[in-house]
Amino acid sequence: GGSLLRRNRAVLDAACGTGTVALMFAADGYQVTAVDISAAMIEEARRKSVTLQIPLALLIQDVAELSVEPSRYALCISLFDSLNYVTVPARLHQAFLRIHDALVPGGFFIFDLNTPLALRSHMFDQEDLNPQEPVRYRWRSTYDERTCLCTVCMEFWIGSGAETSKCTEIHVQRAYEHAEVLQLLEEAGFQFLEALEAYTFDPLRPTTDRVFYIAQRLET
Ligand SMILES: C[S@@+](CC[C@H](N)C(=O)[O-])C[C@H]1O[C@@H](n2cnc3c(N)ncnc32)[C@H](O)[C@@H]1O
Repeated sequence: GGSLLRRNRAVLDAACGTGTVALMFAADGYQVTAVDISAAMIEEARRKSVTLQIPLALLIQDVAELSVEPSRYALCISLFDSLNYVTVPARLHQAFLRIHDALVPGGFFIFDLNTPLALRSHMFDQEDLNPQEPVRYRWRSTYDERTCLCTVCMEFWIGSGAETSKCTEIHVQRAYEHAEVLQLLEEAGFQFLEALEAYTFDPLRPTTDRVFYIAQRLET
């Protein structure tokens, strides 16, 4: 992987959010194309890119409809709770196909997914209601075993006293079983290389709540 990325510096960030990781790669001299379905996220990524004077090619795109230069990228990343938001397996299949086609043969695809265990066991039930904090939040989740969907109601309170404003977001993530992910990768033409317990180089455990997947576009 190292030698490919020394020759080919093109990196694709699928579901880049505000571009935090994309900017790290770009700061290291990679040519980064970063896409996100949210215009607001892309706008914020653009603001950061301009402020930091680190160039990014930014596109508003659904990863399942990804449209970038084919067979160009040495690496595609999709990190920190992105692909669970593709809640229809057929759409994740589409996304994997599009990402596959964007990579050079031999190119790498590294992404993470929250596990069914994480979504089932209320990992997203979180709160910080400390009045000293400028932003307080309370998140509550429900998991539907039949649809594999985890719905998180996120309430935020911003500011204090009479100036307090409240906003609410509903986030829906789908739990993908490991075997399902392997099948989707294979169907899209990827060779599965490794699945790691997130933030470690350890194999998966029964308690793993987030998986880092590493796959490679087959040569030819
Ligand atoms: C939790 S954020 C992670 C952002 C970024 N990868 C990071 O590490 O900061 C999830 C992002 O996925 C984006 N997203 C959700 N569904 C998407 C889709 N179908 N296509 C592209 N982006 C999507 C959201 O707009 C959001 O910016």
